[in-house]
Amino acid sequence: MSDAVTDDKLNETSPEKLLAPVLSSFWDDPRSWTLDVYRANGGYRALSKALAMPPDDVIAYVKDAGLRGRGGAGFPTGMKWQFIPQGDDKPHYLVVNADESEPGTCKDIPLLFANPHSLIEGIVIACHAIRSDHAFIYLRGEVVPVLRRLHTAVAEAYAAGYLGKDALGPGKDLTLTVHAGAGAYICGEETALLDSLEGRRGQPRLRPPFPAVAGLYACPTVVNNVESIASVPAIIDRGKEWFRSMGSEKSPGFTLYSLSGHVANPGQYEGPLGITLRELLDLSGGMRPGHRLKFWTPGGSSTPMLTDEHLDVPLDYEGLMGAGSMLGTKALQCFDETTCVVRAVTRWTEFYAHESCGKCTPCREGTYWLVQLLRDIEAGKGLLSDIDKIADIADNVNGKSFCALGDGAAACITSSLTHFREEYERHITERGCPFDPARSTVWADTLEVNA
Ligand SMILES: Cc1cc2nc3c(=O)[nH]c(=O)nc-3n(C[C@H](O)[C@H](O)[C@H](O)COP(=O)(O)O)c2cc1C
Ligand code: SF4
Repeated sequence: MSDAVTDDKLNETSPEKLLAPVLSSFWDDPRSWTLDVYRANGGYRALSKALAMPPDDVIAYVKDAGLRGRGGAGFPTGMKWQFIPQGDDKPHYLVVNADESEPGTCKDIPLLFANPHSLIEGIVIACHAIRSDHAFIYLRGEVVPVLRRLHTAVAEAYAAGYLGKDALGPGKDLTLTVHAGAGAYICGEETALLDSLEGRRGQPRLRPPFPAVAGLYACPTVVNNVESIASVPAIIDRGKEWFRSMGSEKSPGFTLYSLSGHVANPGQYEGPLGITLRELLDLSGGMRPGHRLKFWTPGGSSTPMLTDEHLDVPLDYEGLMGAGSMLGTKALQCFDETTCVVRAVTRWTEFYAHESCGKCTPCREGTYWLVQLLRDIEAGKGLLSDIDKIADIADNVNGKSFCALGDGAAACITSSLTHFREEYERHITERGCPFDPARSTVWADTLEVNA
């Protein structure tokens, strides 16, 4: 939990109902990442309960609880587990997606750093449910301190008998492999991740077949986000009714919101689904002093941006869809009035162009040309007709690309044009960034603006 939330002053304005620290409840404890501290806080209690249940009952329980995937798309976790064929005599695999590379998204890495055993306990429960004897964690390779801590926690779990021989019951062993990726955003896409895990270049696979039928090594595979799996022990331990007492009918439970950007107290805030950004800002200390919110992303750079008009939208799957965006990874990047939208969108688009795996034409070519046009607009070299051109290219990338990276790349462009079209126009008519006069007139003498 962010220090901000435990600050006495802030507690005055943070009614308990607004926060629900579960995964983050003991992050402030010294050595919170160790097995001893995890057990002292109720850790591995859910595991014995789950192992006493038949696997199908565990799946049904998680399904009834209504847990939805926290990796971005919100697919029901129990239903995903149910897709794994039973009695097929093939190995089943659980693959935990810890690639976390989306701009703004920063919840899984802190969770793994502070409380890795919640994930390991969730993995053992999930493997019991889907009848798997081998799980993998695919971790973003750059985060070496987290990798080390994860290895240590896995070793502790093996030594304590939660993993390894007879971990799932007599004669039922469980292996957990931690794999460090090489830093490609596309390897977070679940099928590219599987290719990468198999030792190939990470590129998305054609579906069907879906991973539940032919995933890792062509065997039935569940791919789940870190937070999804780490949430399972609390559900089993405290009950599905408790989980459903938070959030809404279709978006129940607690989740980690990552506040970043121009806010007074960035950090992880764990609360029920359906809280609003206004409430989160109120209890965290608001925007940085003297500034106001201009635009924000609800769930990382791939989710359409919103403005201060949307401060009261419930942060859940339905609420954000109704506002024309998506909950995504709940990475709330907040930008104040000093930020140039065109500049922010150009930077994000450069990221997508760089990370495009090149497999399909709309994304490979589209992101390249979007960067060229956006750089021109940002530098005051653009034409007014370029605005329609970027809108048209984004439209041809969105929904027409092979995987969701293309949709994500188009989202910031389309949404920024909806809310801030006049800011693009000003870059062109004023021949430079209205937020940075020093950059404005560089090209003014050499270009004719097509007004
Ligand atoms: C380009 C791209 C990157 C992604 N990166 C991640 C990631 O880092 N972590 C993650 O859990 N899901 C990521 N996803 C979503 C995964 O494909 C998949 O939906 C998710 O791991 C499923 O887990 P869940 O059902 O528990 O949410 C990404 C998707 C795309 C298209
Ligand atoms: S959308 Fe982009 S990242 Fe996805 S397959 Fe096509 S080129 Fe690769």
